[in-house]
Amino acid sequence: MSENINNISNNIGINNDNVNKNINKEIIFKLKNVSYKYPDGTLALDKINMEVYRGEILAIIGSNGAGKTTLLKILNGLEFPSNGEVYFEGKKLTEKILTNKESMKYFRSRVGFVFQDPDIMLFSPTVWDDVAFGPLHLYSKEKAINSTDKTLKDMNIYKLKDKHPYNISGGEKKKASIASVMSIEPEVILMDEPTSYLDPKSKKYIIQLIKKLNKMGKTIVFVSHDPNLISVADMCYVLNKKIIFSGYPRDVFSNVELLERENLDVPEITKLFKKIKDDLGNNNIDKIPINIDEGYELLKSILNNVNNKKE
Ligand SMILES: Nc1ncnc2c1ncn2[C@@H]1O[C@H](COP(=O)(O)OP(=O)(O)OP(=O)(O)O)[C@@H](O)[C@H]1O
Ligand SMILES: [Mg+2]
Repeated sequence: MSENINNISNNIGINNDNVNKNINKEIIFKLKNVSYKYPDGTLALDKINMEVYRGEILAIIGSNGAGKTTLLKILNGLEFPSNGEVYFEGKKLTEKILTNKESMKYFRSRVGFVFQDPDIMLFSPTVWDDVAFGPLHLYSKEKAINSTDKTLKDMNIYKLKDKHPYNISGGEKKKASIASVMSIEPEVILMDEPTSYLDPKSKKYIIQLIKKLNKMGKTIVFVSHDPNLISVADMCYVLNKKIIFSGYPRDVFSNVELLERENLDVPEITKLFKKIKDDLGNNNIDKIPINIDEGYELLKSILNNVNNKKE
């Protein structure tokens, strides 16, 4: 059974700061008792119940083999549950629905999936062709061309448009693979490890991009081991075949027992302030920072206090 969000945050005296974000609680995906067994008998998901709300950033985390990618594939209609049901915008998502041309087109234009491995997504002679592939199948030629050019420019990879995807770097491939989904302008973006293969600057860029897309109203569901990325999520599910915890990122990062048991990482800034609080018993820290911005604000206020006392 998943641990309760509010109990945990009350116990550790930490605020749930994402509560105030204006998520309209409109359910976009609903999973009811979803289990998934691969043909060789491996049980990857075991009775998952979850909801994805329109406009939220949802992080799915867990150790290797926990079922994260399988869960994203279920949300994207690439696999169907062995047991249980998936609903998209209130309608049951079935193999039959996705073989119907019209409903398949609708679903594919609304939900995009960025695979962990960009090589799976890049198969055309040029980056431009790859980014245009989705839009050309879903929209008019004019809209597809405009959207492709705009996405390449927005993502700062327009200069790569004529290159063969085989001849660009790992990070550039990752950006091109993200662009090939963004160009469809989907409402929901599913991302499997979006910051893997990227250098620090590009990682930061992707985190900012996710925040920006979300501000524009997109719903983002990502799988990640990257604590800096997880810290921007509104909600976090910890998966180990089952959902064993659901809560705010702050609650996850504060639950040492859970982190150790599930082999999860914590942001360095959180570790630093937790050590300061534990070792020095600093009472000024009632909300442990989970990202650099929060750490900066807290440190600034502590230093201001010290300076004020000196004066
Ligand atoms: N095609 C397959 N056939 C059989 N078993 C599979 C297949 N793909 C994945 N599995 C198994 O299903 C389980 C869940 O795999 P999944 O890829 O969803 O894990 P994950 O959480 O994404 O892991 P990672 O962090 O390593 O990407 C694992 O035990 C894995 O070995
Ligand atoms: Mg995976």
